[in-house]
Amino acid sequence: MCGIVGYVGGKEACDVLIEGLKRLEYRGYDSAGICIQRDGELSIDKCPGRIAVLSERIEGNEAIHGGTVGIAHTRWATHGEPNEVNAHPHTDGTKRIALVHNGIIENYSTLKTYLQDKGHVFESETDTEVLAHLIGEFHDDGDITLELAVQSALREVSGTYGIVVVSADEPGKIVAARKGSPLIIGVGKDEYVVASDASAIIEHTANVVYLNDNEMAVISRDGMRTMTIDNVPVTKEIEQIEWSLEQIAKDGFEHFMLKEIFEQPEVVRTSLSGRIDLREMRVQLGGLEHVSRELVRVRKLILTACGTAWHAALVGEYLFEDLARIPTEVEYASEFRYRNPIVDEGTAVVAISQSGETADTLAALQEARQKGALALGIVNVVGSTIARQTDAGVYLHAGPEIGVASTKAFTCQLVVETLMALMLGRRRFMSQASMERYLRGLSDIPDQIAEVLGQSDTIRQITGEYVGFDNWLFLGRGYNYPVALEGALKLKEISYIHAEGLPAAEMKHGPIALIHDGMPVVFVAPRCATYDKILSNIEEVRARKGKILAIATVGDEEIRKFADHVIYVPDCPAPLSPILTVVPLQLIAYHAAVARGCNVDKPRNLAKSVTVE
Ligand code: F6R
Repeated sequence: MCGIVGYVGGKEACDVLIEGLKRLEYRGYDSAGICIQRDGELSIDKCPGRIAVLSERIEGNEAIHGGTVGIAHTRWATHGEPNEVNAHPHTDGTKRIALVHNGIIENYSTLKTYLQDKGHVFESETDTEVLAHLIGEFHDDGDITLELAVQSALREVSGTYGIVVVSADEPGKIVAARKGSPLIIGVGKDEYVVASDASAIIEHTANVVYLNDNEMAVISRDGMRTMTIDNVPVTKEIEQIEWSLEQIAKDGFEHFMLKEIFEQPEVVRTSLSGRIDLREMRVQLGGLEHVSRELVRVRKLILTACGTAWHAALVGEYLFEDLARIPTEVEYASEFRYRNPIVDEGTAVVAISQSGETADTLAALQEARQKGALALGIVNVVGSTIARQTDAGVYLHAGPEIGVASTKAFTCQLVVETLMALMLGRRRFMSQASMERYLRGLSDIPDQIAEVLGQSDTIRQITGEYVGFDNWLFLGRGYNYPVALEGALKLKEISYIHAEGLPAAEMKHGPIALIHDGMPVVFVAPRCATYDKILSNIEEVRARKGKILAIATVGDEEIRKFADHVIYVPDCPAPLSPILTVVPLQLIAYHAAVARGCNVDKPRNLAKSVTVE
């Protein structure tokens, strides 16, 4: 995700900021920028690509050097592709105020129209530039201090932000504020380092102040004042960072995969943010608006993807058919274009991809477009090749996924598919009451994921009993059949244990021959229409002395009679259940890999992005 660094003190700001940005590189980014305040001027440089490129660019830029106050940013695109114009810092219309921002300003479009009506002209496609102009508007209009202008602007904003702002006219000062996006202030001797992540601070000081939501700080070399964004003073305690640099890069988690598994409540919340309207009981997907009429009328959907994203597509097939009643097919992207598929103008093809760069998925999308289909994308990386080649789409907003095994992107893919299916279902036939049930269910999901994560230690202990087995089965039915496939894939790819995923009833048509004394069989069995059937399948495994690990709905005591271990997930409407049931499977895979001494962050033979056919 994006990274922020700000500095006020006696050192060369440019060096501190660039070093700080390098410390944030592990979070993933696609562009970077810096702004130095010096001699009553702001000097900005920014570019797409690596920090090394920015560093080289500013080498010869006199204005950037010699200043002791500045802000810097690594951007991970959410609005507009990664290029120089969209990179942060952004300025207001007068270019006397500059801002770096993490988070999403949800009402940026309304604010932009308001500002355009007042004569503001925008250079970028970002929500951040709108906020910079809004601060500028209040600043110039009321002839007030930077902090008051920031407060006024933030009161108009809905969404999430961590921001740091400087003004050319208020030398030696930076203003920082947060809501829903972290900001930490390192308190050194006559210097302050503000950052979105402690790893950019730790080499300067271990003394830090954590800003809470709706709090801000006005910082100069001589001191810092903290207050709410409503200007009520707050006293903050200085706390100590106790982690090493290496630990902090992973937020204290041992591996990126585990960090990303634990990020799921937050990223799912972000993925839902601004997209469900519980007052109007509506789904709003801005990226699909211009094709919505065409989409409501499509006769067939084809979901195409690879690997984990293909499993998300399989869940999508259930969602689109069940909730929106649109005939849906799922295609391995690698097979799609070689089998002369039937695609016409009534077909919409949806390419699902975390990276947006997977060669097979891209080729399938191109094939579908050529044949006249409406080309849609469900993609995580903004501005990626697949995102650029679609007619319309929805971003995941899952933040950068660094762990090779996809986890948080998968859950966000399910979230986005559910939103799309609900939006289409409601426009086609779904009742207000059903819509309400699903939307309320969706808004509970982030906290419910957190509840599942709370069982990580228990899951580790259970997994520990079976890591010695080289063959596992994962079985599920209905919405949870694709989850069984995903559980098996996760286990294979990071622990190198052979695992197969199947629809539970298929087991008796062959794979049942594999079951022997003690073999671990994971049943994904939340309460749903096929619950009784899956109990029969569990009986079949028990009769052959397999060991049963069941993923079940909280309160289900019945299943305890059949299973050797039960991991509970909270109750939710069946179409949403895969978002919860996959989480214990991710944890089983992770803990198995660690117990077997595998290198979770660098699994053998795997690359994060497969850009070859
Ligand atoms: C598995 C995994 C892969 C990817 C697949 C598609 O954990 O990460 O199976 O899901 O390579 O990648 P994207 O989603 O980037 O198209």
